[in-house]
Amino acid sequence: MSVVAGLSGRLPTFPWDKLEPYKATAAAHPGGIVDLSVGTPVDPVPELIQKALIAAADSPGYPTVWGTPELRDAITGWCERRLGARDVTHRNVLPIVGSKELVAWLPTQLGLGPGDVVAYPRLAYPTYEVGARLARAQYVAYDDPTELDPAGLKLLWLNSPSNPTGRVLSKEELTRTVAWAREHGVLLVSDECYLELGWEAEPVSVLHPDVCGGSYEGIVAVHSLSKRSNLAGYRAAFVAGDAAVLGDLLQIRKHGGMMTSAPTQAAVVAALGDDQHVREQRERYLARRTALRDALLKHGFRIEHSEASLYLWATRDESCWDTVGHLAGLGILVAPGDFYGPAGDRFVRVALTATDERVAAAVERLA
Ligand SMILES: Cc1ncc(COP(=O)(O)O)c(C=O)c1O
Repeated sequence: MSVVAGLSGRLPTFPWDKLEPYKATAAAHPGGIVDLSVGTPVDPVPELIQKALIAAADSPGYPTVWGTPELRDAITGWCERRLGARDVTHRNVLPIVGSKELVAWLPTQLGLGPGDVVAYPRLAYPTYEVGARLARAQYVAYDDPTELDPAGLKLLWLNSPSNPTGRVLSKEELTRTVAWAREHGVLLVSDECYLELGWEAEPVSVLHPDVCGGSYEGIVAVHSLSKRSNLAGYRAAFVAGDAAVLGDLLQIRKHGGMMTSAPTQAAVVAALGDDQHVREQRERYLARRTALRDALLKHGFRIEHSEASLYLWATRDESCWDTVGHLAGLGILVAPGDFYGPAGDRFVRVALTATDERVAAAVERLA
């Protein structure tokens, strides 16, 4: 076995390949496929962000991993304005190359390995497990993080609003979990990349003083511009929180060359300084959510959680693959719930990331 095969051998099989036959069925629909399987933005990048990117196109020198001072100012300012965090300094923030790379490589960059444990929600974005596997760490899925065995536990992932369920953790749940993690010396990393997309609940950050008591010790929040600002194509995200942890990560990521491009850094400064485009994008998603939700309910689906995020977590009380097959027959592609853990095997995840025209087509087919 080659060295490369040895590393990839630690990874689970890529589940999306299993969806290909259903995609072919949906694509054969005379009205074309409505692909609601992946949460990838489809609306334009707001003009002020494109302009900032273009204005920084002449960037011959190397960018820095920590980002320009303007970028760090934009991040600290946003954390204070939008999350209600207090006294966020440059040492409390670090840009990353999209949040997926951070999720996948954080256990490795924290120096975790065999004997260390990484924990994540029972139903979760699969990359938390991938990150543990890449580091050869152990991993465990939880229902209530405060009931985990703290022995060997080094990294606790929270994800609110959740992918795939859209569930939002209350301020009380967050506060209790932060206290538990601190008591047991476990680093708590909260993936908050859907925080701007609350519909029936107002998502709260772990950086809010009511949750963390005004100290960032032992906690890190992960934020992404992919969904908030339609910037998935730019690879733009950041972490904020414990200065000691981020200082270590900065050193490691400098050695590893993990820097965001200079034009992207400039684009993020513009994006974080503007809330209007976020409001407009929210309106688009809200209209699609309302239309899809009503159509699914009328079609006989039950929807759980889904109070926030870009997804509807829906079931017909049958195997998720039967539901995927049924919808593929209508030309609609969704993600089977078991992609996010065996506990999801009777649900499907329906993404709100399709154009208004495609969402209208789905609604018509479900009627
Ligand atoms: C929970 C969660 N975290 C992180 C990501 C990665 O987002 P990005 O790499 O675009 O920042 C996603 C993407 O869908 C996600 O659902």
